[in-house]
Amino acid sequence: MSISFVIRDAQSKDISAIENLIEAGYRKDEARLGWTHETDILSGDRLSEGEIAKTLDDVNSKMFVAIDNSNENLIGVICVSKDNDWIEFGKFSVKPNLQGGGIGRRLINHVENFVSKVWGEKKLKLSVISKRKELVEFYLRCGFKDTGQRIDFVKVHPYVILKDGVENLEVIIMEKNL
Ligand SMILES: CC(C)(COP(=O)(O)OP(=O)(O)OC[C@H]1O[C@@H](n2cnc3c(N)ncnc32)[C@H](O)[C@@H]1OP(=O)(O)O)[C@@H](O)C(=O)NCCC(=O)NCCS
Repeated sequence: MSISFVIRDAQSKDISAIENLIEAGYRKDEARLGWTHETDILSGDRLSEGEIAKTLDDVNSKMFVAIDNSNENLIGVICVSKDNDWIEFGKFSVKPNLQGGGIGRRLINHVENFVSKVWGEKKLKLSVISKRKELVEFYLRCGFKDTGQRIDFVKVHPYVILKDGVENLEVIIMEKNL
C-alpha cells in the first residue's frame, strides 16, 4: 500500500501516540498484522511514556515520526542516539497494517541523512535479535553489515520477560558506513 506521509521531529505532544505505536509494532497482538515483530519472543511493555519523554529531552538523541497526510495520524517512529562514537538507531516502529509500503526505509534514510549531515558522523549502528532472520535480511538489503559483535540480550535487558521456550537470546550488532 502506498501512502502519502511526511517525516518530522517528534514533539512532546506525540508521546502517547509514540508509546502506542511502539507497543503495537513490537509485542502486542496487533503486531501480527505486520511482517516482523517480537510477539512470539518477548512479552511485557517495550517502553514507557516516561522513557520517551526522557529521550525527547536528551541532547544526544533525536526522534522522528512519520505522519499520514490524509488524517495527521502518527504511523511511524524512529530514534537515533549518540554515545561518543557509538551512534545507533532503535525504537523503530511502523503501524502494523501499513508495513511493507516503504515507510520504514524512508525513516532509516531520514536518520542516515540526519546523522551524516547534522551530527557529521560516518557510521550508524543497530541491534537486532538474531532469531529475527527476516529483519536481519532487511537490514542487509538496506546496506548494514554484520559487525560480528554479539550481545546477550538478557544481560542488557534484565527485566524483560521471555516467552516460554525462548532462551539464549542473542543480539547482532550491524553497522553501515554513511
Ligand atoms: C521494521 C519495520 C519498522 C519496517 O517498517 P516497514 O514500513 O515495513 O518497512 P518498509 O516497507 O520500508 O520495508 C519492508 C521490507 O520488508 C520486506 N517484506 C515485506 N513483507 C515481508 C515478509 N512477509 N517477509 C520478509 N520481508 C518482507 C519488504 O520487501 C521490504 O524490503 P525491501 O525494501 O528490501 O524490499 C516494521 O516492520 C516494524 O515496525 N516492525 C515491528 C517493530 C520492529 O521490529 N522494529 C525493529 C526492531 S530492531
